[in-house]
Formats: sequence, structure tokens, C-alpha cells
Amino acid sequence: MSADQISVLFVCLGNICRSPLAQGVFEHLVRERGLEPRFRIASAGTGHWHIGRPPDPRSCAVATRHGITLRSRAQQIDPATHFDDHSGGFHWLIAMDRANRDDMLSVGAPAPRVRLFRSFDPDLAGRPDAELDVPDPYYGGPEGFDHVFAMVRSASAGLLDHLLKNPRAM
Ligand code: 4NP
Repeated sequence: MSADQISVLFVCLGNICRSPLAQGVFEHLVRERGLEPRFRIASAGTGHWHIGRPPDPRSCAVATRHGITLRSRAQQIDPATHFDDHSGGFHWLIAMDRANRDDMLSVGAPAPRVRLFRSFDPDLAGRPDAELDVPDPYYGGPEGFDHVFAMVRSASAGLLDHLLKNPRAM
């Protein structure tokens, strides 16, 4: 990784629904703007159940409808590699919901680098009481994945703008 590269890890519970979609949408946006060399992008889950699996078919389907292919394989968050500056840790740890955020913090994630994804959503700016969780769509129907996709797309645009202006959290 080059010194001026910005690294972003999207984090949810299972790493098969929300964070792979966030990873794919953010990668797509970065590619569209010709910014690939500037970023390292990945995703992980706080849980271990789906390690090694491809994203949920419903996440793949909504991504495909928007011209995006999801290529990640589920991994569990690993404090030693994902948080540590000296072994390739990520500059930004972007949680899909408050439970994911709190779980990361409880296993030692550096607080200044941990953010809720929707806190970057420009549509929510100026609304301090806005709901900032990306809801877990796993146990619901396909419409939940469309809803998550819309949130992820909007938050990704705001996150990219923020990171270009603020490459490091601290
Ligand atoms: P994700 O959704 O956190 O968005 O990947 C889930 C996937 C699997 C489970 C829960 C949430 N699960 O309990 O297996």
C-alpha cells in the first residue's frame, strides 16, 4: 500500500448482506471517478458464521440490477490485522449499525477511526435525530435489500467526498 492510499473497511454482522454491498458500491464509485489507486477497500463481519462465503444472493441481485458485481468473500474482523497500523490496519472502520460499531470498539478498535456509515449520508445532514443504522435485511424479504441499496449508495457518495477531504481520521 502506498503512503498516501486511503484504506476503508466496511463492517456488519455476517459480512454477507450489508458490508459486501457497501464495499461493492463504494468500489464502483471510486472506479467511476478514476480513483482506484488511491484506495484500499474491503469488508468484514463481527460474526464468524459465514467466513469464506460469497455475499447473500439477494445482495448480489440488487447489485447486479445496478450494474455492480460483488466479489468479496466473508471474513471476520481480526483486531490484529484490521486495527493495527503496523500490520496493514485500516484508516477507516465503517460500521453499518450501532451494534457493529460497539462490537468493534469492545474488541479494541481505535475510536476515532470508527464511524457509522450513514453519518456520511448527505441526505441526513442537518437532521441530528436521523436514524443512522443500516437495517439488517437478512431475515426479511427482497424489498429490504432495495432499501439497503439506496442507503448504501447515498452514504457512499458522502463518505467518498469526506475521505478525499480528510484522508485520515486523526
Ligand atoms: P449482514 O446480515 O450483517 O448484513 O451480513 C446478516 C447475515 C447473517 C446473519 C445476520 C445478519 N446471521 O445471523 O447469520
